[in-house]
Amino acid sequence: MAGDTGNHAPADDGVVVVTDRLVVRAFRADDLPEVVALHADPEVMHHITNGVAEDPDEVAAWLDHWVEVAHRDLDTGCWAAVDRSSGRFVGWFHLFRDDPPATDTLELGYRLRRDAWGLGLAAEGSRALVDRAFATTDAARVRAETMVVHTASRRVMEKVGMHLVRVFDADWPVRIPGDEHGDVEYAIDRADGNTGPVT
Ligand SMILES: CC(C)(COP(=O)(O)OP(=O)(O)OC[C@H]1O[C@@H](n2cnc3c(N)ncnc32)[C@H](O)[C@@H]1OP(=O)(O)O)[C@@H](O)C(=O)NCCC(=O)NCCS
Repeated sequence: MAGDTGNHAPADDGVVVVTDRLVVRAFRADDLPEVVALHADPEVMHHITNGVAEDPDEVAAWLDHWVEVAHRDLDTGCWAAVDRSSGRFVGWFHLFRDDPPATDTLELGYRLRRDAWGLGLAAEGSRALVDRAFATTDAARVRAETMVVHTASRRVMEKVGMHLVRVFDADWPVRIPGDEHGDVEYAIDRADGNTGPVT
């Protein structure tokens, strides 16, 4: 699986970044019920599976993988985001390393609980992760993809300082309303500098 090729031992506490409102940390096995619920919410899954819930056993295997990866590498991976004041699970972010030859490129992704949408949390967490990636890894580029019609996700990418790279047709395993309009890739390069304040 992409995203687990780093070789730096993680910090003992498993914390990846801390923002004003979020702690992004290594997944733990006891996050499973929250992740199963997240991946079963039809609105959360709308632009991913056309709203179909993921099989809990597959979610459990997915979580096991990222828990294991985090034991040896926190440079790239998929991490839980929790509310900084309450510790409540909010969702997750990922930074996967692209396959060769583009190994200096990381792919950003995010999935948040519905009751956490519209608060700027995806942009806040993403910006911190992009800044960290340029500060602590050899990444030259962070990129992200979404459907043309997924306005909220595109807006997150723009707020993080990413620019539109291309419009293309991704090979989706399921039909999702609006997929006839295609997909977009956004990116920010190390040379673009710090992402700056979220606007
Ligand atoms: C996409 C997602 C991560 C956004 O999280 P979020 O924390 O609400 O994002 P933010 O609040 O940082 O920013 C969302 C922006 O999109 C805007 N937006 C949201 N829905 C919109 C819509 N339907 N039309 C226009 N703009 C919209 C918001 O107004 C906000 O922009 P603003 O700050 O300029 O007002 C969240 O909706 C989610 O987890 N969705 C389900 C999983 C998913 O689709 N992941 C992405 C797959 S590519």
